Amino acid sequence: MIKVIIDGKETRVPKGTTILEAARALHIPIPTLCNHPKLSPYGGCRLCLVEVKGNRHPVTSCSVPASDGMEVVTSTPLLERIRKTNIELLLSDHPNDCMVCEKAGDCTLQELAYFYGIRENRFAGERRIYEKKDANPFIERDMEKCILCGLCVRVCEEVEGVSAIDFAYRGFNAKIVPSFEKALDCEFCGQCVAVCPTGALTGKMWSYKGRQKDVRDVDTVCSYCGCGCNLTLHIRRNEVVRVSSRDDTINEGWLCAKGRFGYSFVNSPERLKTPLIKEKGTFREASWDEALDLVANKLKKIRAKHGADAIAGLSSARCTNEENYLFQKFMRAAVGTNNIDHCARL
Ligand code: SF4
Ligand code: SF4
Ligand code: SF4
Ligand code: FES
Repeated sequence: MIKVIIDGKETRVPKGTTILEAARALHIPIPTLCNHPKLSPYGGCRLCLVEVKGNRHPVTSCSVPASDGMEVVTSTPLLERIRKTNIELLLSDHPNDCMVCEKAGDCTLQELAYFYGIRENRFAGERRIYEKKDANPFIERDMEKCILCGLCVRVCEEVEGVSAIDFAYRGFNAKIVPSFEKALDCEFCGQCVAVCPTGALTGKMWSYKGRQKDVRDVDTVCSYCGCGCNLTLHIRRNEVVRVSSRDDTINEGWLCAKGRFGYSFVNSPERLKTPLIKEKGTFREASWDEALDLVANKLKKIRAKHGADAIAGLSSARCTNEENYLFQKFMRAAVGTNNIDHCARL
């Protein structure tokens, strides 16, 4: 362990801890745009600069490890001026259309602009103008809102192991692109959307359905497979308009394409709301009592005629543990057979 003093507060952290991590452990806020606690440091946005006693120039706290006895200051007039200028530079090459942006109210860039009181653009000049078309089915890519933080590139490589996107070109023309600048064609896990700090990456399915302030959050568990990832459903007017996952969950906020984008069935008008009974080749709606009586009578008849082992039950990995427990109990105790299995994964 090493001793670090940040803004006069002393702490002990394991060797290799960055200054930013040590500051966070002390609940000292440092603004960041290109840092994610689960991704490798990049040092691109220069917002996390801090002053270290004995150093002539500020250092990026996200990428510099703390050293024993280090004394750090996180906020001085110089640091705040640099941070403000960096945000102004980003905004000078940004559409600034927060009024209609999906991310408004939940955008780190907008939040920083607010806290630094930035209204005017001191850096008039050319702005990047990009075609917004991307034929992929899930992810809206508005590269004019991209601040080149590289979080999407790193999450795609380090978490998803896909490397579907990367930086291309240099300087003013630098841009995040899929291979050969074709339409995005990848796993569609949406991890890049989850980490993007601006409105550059959003879900096509949730465009104009409600921003963060408009939705109610309900935590639940994904029903697609046995992994049981934790989901947060964002609900507006009784409709699921978006799905995400919190960082502090068992799946650490990461989801697959099904969990993140496969929710339209929840609101589908074709979804069954009552049991159906098939008569003379066609289905008719029935009450639960009627349907359960029918199934119970048929199971009893089969058991009476052929024995309990003529019946088998197949449960699902999409059910909860409790439901699967009840189902096997029903098959063994009520029906009287051990013919019980499940689909491990659909
Ligand atoms: S990305 Fe953020 S700052 Fe940019 S337009 Fe959207 S809300 Fe505003
Ligand atoms: S959706 Fe997933 S696989 Fe596709 S670019 Fe984003 S992180 Fe990579
Ligand atoms: S698309 Fe988003 S996450 Fe990717 S570099 Fe641009 S701002 Fe960062
Ligand atoms: S967070 Fe450190 S440079 Fe961006």
